[in-house]
Parts: sequence; C-alpha cells; structure tokens
Amino acid sequence: MTGLLEGKRLLITGVITNASIAFHAAKVAQEQGAQVVLTGFGRLSLVERVAKRLPREAPVVELDVQNREHLDSLADRVREHVDGLDGVLHSIGYAPESCLGAPFVEAPWSDVSQAVQISAYSFSSLAAATLPLLGPGASLVGMDFDARVAWPAYNWMGVSKAALESVNRYLARDLGAHGIRVNLVSAGPIKTMAARSIPDFAELEGGWHDRAPLGWDTADPTPVAKTVCAVLSDWLPATTGSMIMADGGVHATGQ
Ligand SMILES: NC(=O)c1ccc[n+]([C@@H]2O[C@H](COP(=O)([O-])OP(=O)(O)OC[C@H]3O[C@@H](n4cnc5c(N)ncnc54)[C@H](O)[C@@H]3O)[C@@H](O)[C@H]2O)c1
Repeated sequence: MTGLLEGKRLLITGVITNASIAFHAAKVAQEQGAQVVLTGFGRLSLVERVAKRLPREAPVVELDVQNREHLDSLADRVREHVDGLDGVLHSIGYAPESCLGAPFVEAPWSDVSQAVQISAYSFSSLAAATLPLLGPGASLVGMDFDARVAWPAYNWMGVSKAALESVNRYLARDLGAHGIRVNLVSAGPIKTMAARSIPDFAELEGGWHDRAPLGWDTADPTPVAKTVCAVLSDWLPATTGSMIMADGGVHATGQ
C-alpha cells in the first residue's frame, strides 16, 4: 500500500523535543512515505539528537525566523538535501513571560512585538523564503490555537495567534495564483515544551477531555500530526485560507 505522502518532499520546522508537535508530524509524514528536512532553532545539537529518533534520520538546517541571513539563505541550504518542496510546516511559537499569564495590560510592546514576529509574521517570512522551492500543488501549514475567543493565561500569545489566522488568509489569497494552498491546523492542548511555558496550562486544558465530543488526550500528539499530514497531502486540493480544527470538537461546543 502506498503512503499518503509518498514521494513528497517536506520542510518541517519546530522540532525541539520528541514531544514537539513537529516531531510527530515528521514521524507520521515519514511513515506515509515523505522525505523530511527539519529546521532547528538555537540548540541544533539537541534537534539533531531528536532527529535521530525519527523512523529515518532527517537532516537539520538552522533557522531562526528573526534572522534575515538565515531566511535569505534558507532555500539554498534546503536545496543541499532536496531539489524542491511539496510542503512546509510552520510549527513555531514563542512569547516572553510577560505575555503569558501576567496581567494582560502590563505586557510591554518590546515583548509583544517579539511574540507577534516569531509566532505570526514568521509564517509569511517562511513562505517567502521557501517560495523558490515550491510549485503548483504545494501545501503550507501553520499551527494554531483557536484565537476567536479569549482563553485563561494565553494573553498575547492569543493575540499572536489571531494575527497568524489573518496572515494565513492573506498568504492564501496571494499564493493561490501559484497553485499553493495555505492553511492552519488548530490543535487542542498538547503537553510540549511551549505548553509548559504557559502558566496555568492546567486551567487552559482543564476539562478539554470532558468538553470534547470525541474526548481528548493532552499526551497524544498523533491525532494532530495526522491532521497536519492530511493537509500536506493531495487530498484537500480545494482548501486554502482555512483553519482545520483538530481539537476533539471543543470548538463546536458551548463553554
Ligand atoms: N502544545 C499545544 O497545546 C499547542 C496547541 C495548539 C497550537 N500549538 C502550536 O504548535 C506549534 C508548535 O508548538 P509545540 O507545542 O509543538 O511546542 P514546542 O516547544 O515543541 O515547539 C515550539 C517551537 O518553536 C521554535 N521556535 C521558537 N522561537 C523560534 C525562532 N525564533 N525561530 C525558529 N523557531 C523558533 C522552538 O525551537 C520550538 O521548536 C506552535 O505554533 C504552538 O503555538 C501548540
């Protein structure tokens, strides 16, 4: 049986531990036949160690989305491993401490601007940096946490996600002409390093399992990873500018 992503060349950002959503997306993608290149931020030796735990070790190229030189040279550095890309996963988020849990109105702009640049603007930076490698039928996917409502503690990360949702629509508008789809997967809460930096994560995830019509396990990233792979595949050819909910159905219920 051929895999869902047989022959697809994918660039996957955002692996830092083997709990990262990106790690599980890369794992499922390889199981489905994809060739994966990872990007790593900061502790590259750590990312390389985690990359060895995939079904097939994946090469790692360095990418700090705040670094202009990294972005400008990304396509050439990815070309050392693959001759083009069929899909890109943006699985990157960061907000300084003042932006999460602290009184909302007290976060300084210097911190908020960093959260917005890394968590929202960078989806556009990554699209621009990889465009020379992308052709018709390619799929760009970003990771969202439903920003249509205010959550406990999520504060300026929530504002950054609202910006990401808008960036997604504008990228979809402009890249459609190239035959490229752009979508977000809006995941329920998963225990990862990024999640641990949210004070009161317990409050955020509280009752998710009970509220989800399908139930929810914060320790199981595989349902989210499978959804990412479905969006990277050829099987949503008419879908762009969308938020695909992978949250057990919580978005559809009243609080
Ligand atoms: N964990 C959850 O509950 C959850 C739910 C919905 C959406 N998400 C989103 O999923 C994505 C991945 O997060 P995760 O939960 O797997 O956590 P994670 O900590 O494993 O991944 C976050 C990644 O962002 C990267 N990153 C931070 N700053 C960067 C920079 N300047 N340049 C490049 N990379 C940078 C980190 O290196 C890390 O790999 C994020 O966008 C997050 O907001 C997470």
